Amino acid sequence: MRFKALLLIILISLVSCKDSKKNNETKQVSEIKPEINLQKQIDDCEHQLEIAVPKLTDLTKHPRLIDTDKKEWKEVGNDKLIWTSGFYPGVLWYAYDVTGNERWKEEATKRTEVFEDFKNITEHHDIGFMMFPAYGKGYEIGKKEEYKDILLTSAASLATRFNPNVGTIKSWSTKMHPRWKQHITIIDNMLNLELLFWAAKNGGDQKFYDIAVKHAETTMNNHFREDLTSWHVIEYDSINGNVLNRHTKQGFADDSRWSRGQAWGVYGYTMVYKETKDKKFLDFAQKITDKYLDLLPEDMVPAWDFDVQSNPKEEKDASAAAVVASALLDLSTMVESKEDQERYYNAAIKMLESLGSDKYSAVGKADSFLLHSTGAKSLGHEIDVALIYADYYYIEALSRLKKLEAKK
Ligand code: GLY
Repeated sequence: MRFKALLLIILISLVSCKDSKKNNETKQVSEIKPEINLQKQIDDCEHQLEIAVPKLTDLTKHPRLIDTDKKEWKEVGNDKLIWTSGFYPGVLWYAYDVTGNERWKEEATKRTEVFEDFKNITEHHDIGFMMFPAYGKGYEIGKKEEYKDILLTSAASLATRFNPNVGTIKSWSTKMHPRWKQHITIIDNMLNLELLFWAAKNGGDQKFYDIAVKHAETTMNNHFREDLTSWHVIEYDSINGNVLNRHTKQGFADDSRWSRGQAWGVYGYTMVYKETKDKKFLDFAQKITDKYLDLLPEDMVPAWDFDVQSNPKEEKDASAAAVVASALLDLSTMVESKEDQERYYNAAIKMLESLGSDKYSAVGKADSFLLHSTGAKSLGHEIDVALIYADYYYIEALSRLKKLEAKK
């Protein structure tokens, strides 16, 4: 009997010894901080620009995408209906920011100043996406004071699309998107609020701030499912503001979880908290970010829609990863607990590490920074390509990281 008890004690202590060793190992693994070679990733971007920029000489066009297995940018016209005009100048402003190389400032200035008249766009909400990366970053990074009035006019143009009955900006017109007849708001619209916040802080009307906050509140109430994933398109009744339909344009299905849509939400609410310091927006930004992080695959780059991700043949969307990496670096500086700060920072680093790796980097393969983005698979275009906005948010993230590291 006594022998059996002794045997039991030995067994228990062996097991607990093994468990504590396992705990130590787990602790050691979780204490390993993800690291990237930031300077190398910045150098890679500059190297890519040295190849691409001399080929992009036509100022009436801007680079939009590089098709699968192609090397060079496909350019589209400087058209006020094309939402991506601002990203190439934006890439160049950030290139100047991270390298200090005057060549990129000159190029950025040249590429920005070709579409000043877009400040009067009232046909759609994308004026924020178009003007802020170009004129906004030129003002901030390039110290171009003369861009201020252009940005203020752009904000006023965007504000004309706000419908107080609904409490949001109307993203699209029925003419361009005939499936919807009334007031359409898409999750992407969150990014355009940055222009309004900027304008309110820089001599513009207080109403720009109020519109941005109201839009963010209404979107928070209507644009997310119970599981904290985002719908893409909401159609509201223009008169009474009721939600009529919840649909998609670029996702796999009306009720599926389009990855870049969730990414716009993460970036949008992080930015709204940064501008308002209203805790409800921080809480919400964290909730939707945590949901996004939960859904990610091993390499931190989602498939173009989370609802097709279980099929390994479905294409990735590196642009969503770049958008979220940039947002997370900001979020990591705004959350209170050290644990959350590290969690978001480490997730951003892992995303950037993955994007800079051979799997996603375009170095030696094409003229962009990144490969493997998907613009709109549901519409049959821009599938597994390089996209200019993926590059923009990627270099923005590198710039944010460089500033964070310099502060340490
Ligand atoms: N804002 C358009 C897109 O994300 O494709």
